[in-house]
Amino acid sequence: MNNYKTDLHNFSLTTPLYYANGVPHIGSAYTTMVADVLARFQRLQGNSVLLITGTDEHGQKIQRAATEQGLDPQVHCDRIVDSFKSLWDKLNIKYDRFSRTSAEPHRAIVNEFFQRVWDRGDIYLDRQQGWYCVSCEEFKEERELTEDGCCGIHTNKKAEWRDEENYFFRLSKYQAQLEELYRSQPDFIQPESRRNEVLNFVGQGLKDFSISRVNLDWGFPIPGDDKHTIYVWFDALLGYVTALLEPGQEPTLDNALSKWWPIDLHLIGKDILRFHAVYWPAMLASAGLPLPKKVFGHGFLTKDGLKMGKTLGNTIDPFELVDRYGSDALRYYFLKEIELGKDGDFNETRFVNVLNADLANDLGNLLNRTLGMLKKYCQGNGPQLTAAELSSDRTIQQIGEGLGDRVINAYEALQFSKACEEVLTLVRACNKYIDDSAPWSLFKQGKQSEVEQILYVVLESVRLSAYLLSPIIPNISSNIYQQLGFSINFNDETQSETNKDIFAIHSQWGKLPANPSLGKASPVFSKLELLSEN
Ligand code: MSP
Repeated sequence: MNNYKTDLHNFSLTTPLYYANGVPHIGSAYTTMVADVLARFQRLQGNSVLLITGTDEHGQKIQRAATEQGLDPQVHCDRIVDSFKSLWDKLNIKYDRFSRTSAEPHRAIVNEFFQRVWDRGDIYLDRQQGWYCVSCEEFKEERELTEDGCCGIHTNKKAEWRDEENYFFRLSKYQAQLEELYRSQPDFIQPESRRNEVLNFVGQGLKDFSISRVNLDWGFPIPGDDKHTIYVWFDALLGYVTALLEPGQEPTLDNALSKWWPIDLHLIGKDILRFHAVYWPAMLASAGLPLPKKVFGHGFLTKDGLKMGKTLGNTIDPFELVDRYGSDALRYYFLKEIELGKDGDFNETRFVNVLNADLANDLGNLLNRTLGMLKKYCQGNGPQLTAAELSSDRTIQQIGEGLGDRVINAYEALQFSKACEEVLTLVRACNKYIDDSAPWSLFKQGKQSEVEQILYVVLESVRLSAYLLSPIIPNISSNIYQQLGFSINFNDETQSETNKDIFAIHSQWGKLPANPSLGKASPVFSKLELLSEN
């Protein structure tokens, strides 16, 4: 079982599998939007991509949530799954697999994996005593609890004392192997601050952790001892593997891992870093499987400094936001305004201001005024020239020519905010360039060729900006491309076969032949009004 992933152009990435204890909130939407942007960027380059998302449905947290609703856990989860899927559709998220840990094929994968780890001698029965945070589904050290006995994240839920017999996974056995992994693959954990956190944690010495629970029905039983239910995290991480099965394929590890494994990127929030960067690689090593390539732990969306979450009840409803402002607006705001890896406070006034400034005023207006001038000064035709014919003023060209590579590098490094800033630099320079060069005066002076040159330079910059931002704002970019007379729709995945060639040309400034047949002009982003006070 060693020949995984022979096609170099495959790129597989995951969001976490979200707890199905309640409908999705903006924090869940954040990770998924980021993952979708990266997946789209990969597809834009012509790579084949598998984006996995899904739900984590077992364990006490979910069982309690279902009981509170008076529902059978499966019925409860089915409802929650519908709400996740509908939010992903609304946010224009193109996931390839939706992994549900309550699905039958997952049981077979978990059992086979458990058996391998068992056969390695890495599972044993022992006594577990300690404080358990059901919201984290994690045992906590006493020093990690607040004065009133809550965990640091779920400050309104008391940790519960547990004293029970559990099966344990021999994590301590993998101490040296994990340290070697972090040393030999320094970018296995990103960003650097998260890597350091993990190094610190592992450096203190790893303890075995319990992988079963008693007095819990909702989950898979431990093979051969059904008094015990498999710990939700042991089960959930394997949801990434089950997701790799083709529909209808026999659920075996060999089948699941044959094409897309190892995963290129696990995109997660910083609260679940330990599970992904410590427990998961150790579990995989125990089962004799290759390890994922990278784990990126992003920050929290906060409200008044506290992590937004269902448990604290301080979240913003993403359905309401997307209905009010549209998917591109949300995607743009979260990708541009929050540097991936850092926390970011959400504020609706800032949200409206950023979108109006960047998308309505800077980008939208640039397209609008340029198309307006082409109508007036060139009878609505595109400028009849190519970059090679441009004369002396190279202000914009100089910014434009390196832009494609700078933005590609930023996407590759998951610096989405930087990618947006780079594009905006060009857009803003173009607005200034128009003001400074005043094509309306040149037209009056009969300098037609100069007018066309200015309009070419600007139009090409708008096109490049739209192309480079298309993973983030696919609807707006498609609209701009249409108005510029191109038939590319950034939401159409069937166009991806030719993407490699298209990408080589379209991602660079000035590479396109003259493109005179412009489409119908219309505003691409209407100014937003702030509707609610916050
Ligand atoms: N079920 C586990 C993950 C299992 S993965 C095999 C879980 N689920 S969760 O629903 O609680 O969280 C899922 C993800 O959402 C985590 O990465 C978490 O960091 C992220 N977020 C939840 N609230 C968030 C914010 N307020 N801000 C940003 N991301 C947040 O953990």
